[in-house]
Amino acid sequence: DPIIMREKDEMRNWTRSMRAQGHTIGFVPTMGYLHQGHLSLIKEAHKHADRIVVSIYVNPGQFSPNEDLSTYPCDFQGDCQKLKAVPGGVDVVFNPDNLYAAYGNSSLGSERNGEMREGRLVSCVENKWGMGHETWVRVENLEKGLCGKSRPVFFRGVVTVVTKLFNIVDPDVAVFGKKDYQQWKIIERMVRDLDFGIKVIGSEIVREQDGLAMSSRNVKLSPDNRQRALSISRALSRAKFDAENGQLNCHELINAAIPKIREAGGRVDYAEIVEQESLEPVETINKPVVFCVAAWFGDVRLVDNMEIDIN
Ligand code: PAJ
Repeated sequence: DPIIMREKDEMRNWTRSMRAQGHTIGFVPTMGYLHQGHLSLIKEAHKHADRIVVSIYVNPGQFSPNEDLSTYPCDFQGDCQKLKAVPGGVDVVFNPDNLYAAYGNSSLGSERNGEMREGRLVSCVENKWGMGHETWVRVENLEKGLCGKSRPVFFRGVVTVVTKLFNIVDPDVAVFGKKDYQQWKIIERMVRDLDFGIKVIGSEIVREQDGLAMSSRNVKLSPDNRQRALSISRALSRAKFDAENGQLNCHELINAAIPKIREAGGRVDYAEIVEQESLEPVETINKPVVFCVAAWFGDVRLVDNMEIDIN
């Protein structure tokens, strides 16, 4: 069974001793409420390392005050059961209480660090995201587009917490899902720019049988919206098919996709075809691109994407 660790120092000491024994450490950061998508990242990590750490931490720093931090789904016991059953196993579940407490865990619940409700940090100093932090890691250009437009502090929070987790866990390899394509590319860039000695791996999107990309947020969809949300993956598959059959005009592809999602009742946040490395919009598909979509169904915001690589 995985060892559950809540303290940073315990985590650091574990890695130190594993590495001294010649092991390599693979790391999968998550916010819990685990599904097959998360578990596939663990499977991927096993290909590159012989010890596996999974973190479960709902990071308040990546939610704006109006977002769904307080209702983000959570089932720590259920997650542990799933991790026990993972083929090849998981060595450590790192589940810190609050990574933003400036002086250890004693300041939990203080006004400065946020408010605790039923054992979870549910809100932080409005808009300031102080949380005892002055230091933030930003990837200035890659964080601007796509999800960055409607979620201005999101990537600042993601990159900062991943930096903290990398410093605490100190892995050899870290695995991210291509489901959050921009997140993966941003972390890759941060690791390169800041000289982390960590190999970042992007792992394929895992979908439900009917094509919906797995997400912890899917449980928040009403049965009706769950069905309607299929329009996203269907629109993306169709665009990929059309591109492979000669439609290389991104404008046309996007203009065909958006109405399909709208007609299903989705509010499209963005639908863009971008270059795979720079994430810059592309007009004609003459290099590897990725079609990225974010859309709201009810009060749930879903993201999905498909790589299109025509050679
Ligand atoms: P979370 O949404 O829990 O996702 C954790 C990891 O699982 C991410 O790398 C994400 O891309 C991957 N993932 C989610 N759904 C997937 C799917 N259907 N197929 C493949 N991979 C999938 O992403 C986060 O948490 C946070 O931002 C985090 C990186 C942990 C920082 O707080």
